[in-house]
Amino acid sequence: MSHVLHIDVSPMGDHSVSRQVANAYVEAFTASHKDVAVVTRDLAADPVPHLDGETIMAGYIPAEQRTPSQVAKFTYRMELVEEVKSSQEIVISTPMWNWQVPSVLKAWIDQIIIPGVLDASSEAATVNARVTVVVAQGGSYKEGAPRHGWDYLTGYMKQVFGSMGVKDVEVILAEFTLAGVAPGMETFVDNKKASIDAAIETAKARASK
Ligand SMILES: Cc1cc2nc3c(=O)[nH]c(=O)nc-3n(C[C@H](O)[C@H](O)[C@H](O)COP(=O)(O)O)c2cc1C
Repeated sequence: MSHVLHIDVSPMGDHSVSRQVANAYVEAFTASHKDVAVVTRDLAADPVPHLDGETIMAGYIPAEQRTPSQVAKFTYRMELVEEVKSSQEIVISTPMWNWQVPSVLKAWIDQIIIPGVLDASSEAATVNARVTVVVAQGGSYKEGAPRHGWDYLTGYMKQVFGSMGVKDVEVILAEFTLAGVAPGMETFVDNKKASIDAAIETAKARASK
């Protein structure tokens, strides 16, 4: 069945900016697409395991040679893949941590990308969903910022879904979220509010399309 796959990553609960923006997206989407189910995956509350040697090896050998443990781990992996492949819409909310995605999101990505199973090399392995990635970050890496060029997240997430054949991937940024929280960021409080408001408006407009 086709559904919206909503993945959250931040462990910050109600304080999370990325969750707030993604919730606005999902609310707007379900308001304008009333018959679509939402499948939620909270990677902070319920992380997927990192790939281990047994799981990797299971992908290299014929199915009938797998041990019961390998069968269980590979079946779980395929369930994650199927959740992605049967989505019409995927929305991921994530913090930027140390210029990249948190490791719980990386673990999910490593579980789902399997050459020949989820990649753009064959039509059967291609993902047809529209993908939206909401990112909250403490500062800004746009042109003119002192750390311009340090954002290794935006391009990476586009690469991840591009590799699966997704044509429409948009990254929505909420910047300066540490203003008013971390010492030294006080002067960016207005930028923070403007950026979060703009991210919510962008999310709602995209979801309603
Ligand atoms: C471990 C850690 C690493 C972080 N690394 C960065 C970073 O590299 N760049 C940045 O702009 N903000 C960084 N931040 C700030 C977060 O991106 C910011 O608090 C953001 O709002 C987190 O998303 P959330 O509000 O959805 O939890 C970091 C925060 C933590 C806790």
